[in-house]
Amino acid sequence: MTHVLEAGLEFMDSSNPHNLPKVRGYNIINGQLHSASDSGTFESVNPANLSDCLGEFPLSTRDDVHAAIAAARAALTEWAATPAPTRGQIIGNMGRLLMEHKDELVRLQAREIGKTLKECGGEIQEAIDTCLFFQSEGRRLYGQTVNSELPDKELFTYRRPLGVCGIINACNFPSAVPFWKMIPALICGNTCVWKSPQDSPLLSFALARVMHQAGLPDGVVNLVHGKGSGAGQYIVDAVDEGLINKISFTGSTAVGKAIGEVCGRNLVSCSLELGGKNPLVVMPSADIDNAVEGAYWGGFGTAGQRCTSLGNLILHEDIYDQFMEKLMAKVKSTRIGDSLHQENVLYGAMLSEKYAVDFLKGIDMIEADGATKLWGEGRATAGNTPANFQGNPDEGVYMWPHLYTDVTEDMNCFHEEVFGPVVTVVKAKDFDHALHLANASPYGLSSAIYTNDRLEAYRFKTGIKAGMTGINNSTTGAEAHLPFGGVKGSGNGTRESGIWVIEAYSYWHAVNDELSGKLQLAQMDVDEIEMVEAEVDYGSLA
Ligand code: UN1
Repeated sequence: MTHVLEAGLEFMDSSNPHNLPKVRGYNIINGQLHSASDSGTFESVNPANLSDCLGEFPLSTRDDVHAAIAAARAALTEWAATPAPTRGQIIGNMGRLLMEHKDELVRLQAREIGKTLKECGGEIQEAIDTCLFFQSEGRRLYGQTVNSELPDKELFTYRRPLGVCGIINACNFPSAVPFWKMIPALICGNTCVWKSPQDSPLLSFALARVMHQAGLPDGVVNLVHGKGSGAGQYIVDAVDEGLINKISFTGSTAVGKAIGEVCGRNLVSCSLELGGKNPLVVMPSADIDNAVEGAYWGGFGTAGQRCTSLGNLILHEDIYDQFMEKLMAKVKSTRIGDSLHQENVLYGAMLSEKYAVDFLKGIDMIEADGATKLWGEGRATAGNTPANFQGNPDEGVYMWPHLYTDVTEDMNCFHEEVFGPVVTVVKAKDFDHALHLANASPYGLSSAIYTNDRLEAYRFKTGIKAGMTGINNSTTGAEAHLPFGGVKGSGNGTRESGIWVIEAYSYWHAVNDELSGKLQLAQMDVDEIEMVEAEVDYGSLA
């Protein structure tokens, strides 16, 4: 066996373009590199260039996942007993290492999932911000001292770790989101089994290696690769087996509900960060150019592959024509391409072929609903490219930007999330109608309104059912120290990010210390103070 920090990168033969390397990837269990117990593997392919294979990774078996869980269980006692400031120091080291390697990790992430360099830079920065925020939390992680109702008795509260956390994230935010989950888990003294997204295993491997380099003891974070229906499912099954104390999942609402059921019947805590059909309302008083910028970025940035991406664009009828003309001009001129080789592209490839297939099914649904197509021709190919496409679309998995109008509340596409570059446009009669439409989908993740009427902004803020709201801003772009999460179909009310996430990875332990040397009964042995009878006529004073 080889320890992750003793191993360099193991290169394999490849015919990758630009002489890019292909590596053999491993699970990291108790700090050691492991292949799958049955030697099964899968490949990670660059979606911007399908002939570029980043590496082969273990298709983890149930035994592999159980080995990772056993390692996390074995590491738990010592990690939980490590002083929180020391845990924080290790997390700070992670942040510093990410800063040191930021440029390389940004390029690796862009190569593995096709997001633009600019966005990958923003995302690695979000992981760094998370580390720096939680480094100092190690010096707080406050509990309380509470006064007792009895003499010679003290009361305290302490935060305690939950135990072994199963971490399952999606590949659209493959560095920020696992850090959102694992960094607070670690600061609270939990250990983790991290199921890497199937489409970003090399980046996960690099990040897990950074964690070990930062001084994280072996077994505290264990990385397993594979499918959601494989390794991911085995982690969830282990909840039924009593081996997992927390699941943190980012992904679809359907899978989140299934995980919630398993956790619910076992009384195990779960954080569920699920889908969204995020509304953005534009009112007549808005700065229209600014609103167009926000809607365009919210809908098509990241190729629409954020859970916070704009879904339903709700336009007041008075500004509808003006707004659509400006938005269409931008949509038509969208620069798309592989940002590792092309300048200034708004978005790159879809995250993988699977995301492309699912997106096109979503487009079929919108068309079957009878919405009016203003723009978009499905997959960009050599004979079917939008005007500002950069490079050769046949090399990767690229989509046109899509825009549909005449969408109404009775259509499926009004309610269902379509993960990719598409915006559905809905017309509103007035503010109340717009707010109604914004609340009418089954989701409640992000939301936005563009208005310069303060009362409208206030009414939107108080009337919208969503975990996050932007006022004169797009639906995306949460900062690393605000609570992130949704209501309704978007989650189970837990939050990621910021100080609030601590609640999701610790439980409160109330301790009372009876110093009197005798049994004093709460409520029953408490001094009762009688009120004194002493009448005075306050009415005579004035
Ligand atoms: C996600 O898509 O799962 O607020 C996370 C945002 C990003 C995070 C998105 N900071 O859009």
